[in-house]
Amino acid sequence: MILVTGATGGVGRHVVAQLRARHHAVRALVRDPSTADLPSDIETVRGDLADVASLSSALADVDSVFLLWPFFAADGASDVVDAIADTARRVVYLSAEAAAAHPESFWAIVERQVTESELEWTILRPTGFAKNTLGWADQIRSGAVHGPYGAAARSLIDERDIAAVAVQALTSDEHVGKVYVLSGPATVTQSEQVAIIGAAVGRQVRWIEQSPAEARPQLVEIFGDKSFAEGALDTWAGFVSEPEEVTDTVQAITGEPARSFDQWAREHADDFR
Ligand SMILES: NC(=O)c1ccc[n+]([C@@H]2O[C@H](COP(=O)([O-])OP(=O)(O)OC[C@H]3O[C@@H](n4cnc5c(N)ncnc54)[C@H](OP(=O)(O)O)[C@@H]3O)[C@@H](O)[C@H]2O)c1
Repeated sequence: MILVTGATGGVGRHVVAQLRARHHAVRALVRDPSTADLPSDIETVRGDLADVASLSSALADVDSVFLLWPFFAADGASDVVDAIADTARRVVYLSAEAAAAHPESFWAIVERQVTESELEWTILRPTGFAKNTLGWADQIRSGAVHGPYGAAARSLIDERDIAAVAVQALTSDEHVGKVYVLSGPATVTQSEQVAIIGAAVGRQVRWIEQSPAEARPQLVEIFGDKSFAEGALDTWAGFVSEPEEVTDTVQAITGEPARSFDQWAREHADDFR
């Protein structure tokens, strides 16, 4: 039995679908089964990662866990990792590429808790998710996206590719003890991302450069966390002079090339219309 946390989210939903397609026994951890909108043959169990006691039914008889940490601080994560280690054998943790440069980040703290546990572990460190651009949907519809650091070059990854690597790590022994940096196949600047989405929906969309000072309060509101917003600004500033890393790990592990942002945008065009 494989327990998928974040099963209603961008990556976890694909992890569930891909495990199901391969006929693995899957259980989805959800906070509200009535809104989870998962296939009816998927077992859903209510639980909240902020309350370790609520996870006991979900963890019963589980062999492996796909774990994400949906908070901006690692408080409580060590109890959750301990609870997983009490029943399961393996964990695949969805971290972030940023964990490498930021050992104080919640991603890195949870990584250490996972790697110092008794569990067989695999750490996934993806770059930026393609779905982050859905946050521009209203602005795309209005014909212009306002944002800072339009020249920031990101190697955005399709969430399905993260899920495909996670499925390999959950179901094969080859990936135990590995840390994988996962990215899309190329970097695309933020202003290019907007143009690519515009082309996918069939309209011209402009990028309008904002100063960091202008963007800061909006980002704090979007992320709901001041230091995370500040970190995002610093990260994008860095990607102007040094583009985000590109790796071939998706292809090496799944046998399929990582999907391009162009493909992702065409497949999600309706979300921006
Ligand atoms: N976006 C990026 O560019 C990026 C890059 C690297 C790493 N990451 C990491 O990826 C993770 C997010 O993955 P995602 O984008 O696939 O998720 P997402 O689409 O943001 O959805 C969040 C998921 O977490 C669940 N969740 C939220 N609070 C929860 C709680 N208290 N207890 C249990 N489940 C809870 C949600 O379930 P409900 O249905 O209950 O709401 C949902 O399934 C985060 O750890 C993030 O830091 C993101």
